Amino acid sequence: MRKLEAGTRLVVASHNPGKIREINDLIRPYGMSAVSAGELNISEPEETETTFAGNARLKALHSAKASGLPALSDDSGLEVEALGGAPGVYSARWAGPAKDFNYAMQRVESELQEKFARDPESRRANFTATLCLAWPDGEAEVFEGKVFGHLVWPPRGEKGFGYDPMFLADGETLTFGEMEAEAKHAISHRARAFALFVAACLDRSDG
Ligand code: IMP
Repeated sequence: MRKLEAGTRLVVASHNPGKIREINDLIRPYGMSAVSAGELNISEPEETETTFAGNARLKALHSAKASGLPALSDDSGLEVEALGGAPGVYSARWAGPAKDFNYAMQRVESELQEKFARDPESRRANFTATLCLAWPDGEAEVFEGKVFGHLVWPPRGEKGFGYDPMFLADGETLTFGEMEAEAKHAISHRARAFALFVAACLDRSDG
């Protein structure tokens, strides 16, 4: 596997401020600096694939080719068991053009109510994050992490982003919206995918 050297400048192939912030937190201890696709005026490609991995690849390759730098993308979302895995790759789109996640969470809740999903067991869900590291020459590698739990209502906490306020990870008492960033990073889907990326692509003595 091709390694990233310490000091490498990476493009974070995302326009989502929540993800950019979390990826920056994760790479900082490895001596890497990151610039976001938005800061380089790189457009956001349309997510035309039907899997997290497909969309992660598409976004990372787009930014790597446009910038000439290695690019790290994240395609992620919430999968709700009772909804057959929805919203899944459409998690961002459920928030509509205004990116209103109160609206998206309400839609998830309404669909769960239609299925009479009231107890934690029938409200099982997971967050999945798929990271892709792509190089300007077209090489790309994908890493996936998941965290399992169930959905609560009403949503709780203002600290995270997206669907965080309604997600309670197994064994926790605070939702992702109520947790401090470090506590979320200790168990999150993104941190798990990131650990696989670190093991494969970084010289661990950098950390
Ligand atoms: P995409 O990967 O750009 O298609 O967007 C994924 C969407 O999934 C985000 O806009 C969030 O709504 C949701 N999502 C992904 N990761 C998280 C997370 O860590 N917390 C809350 N919501 C998330």
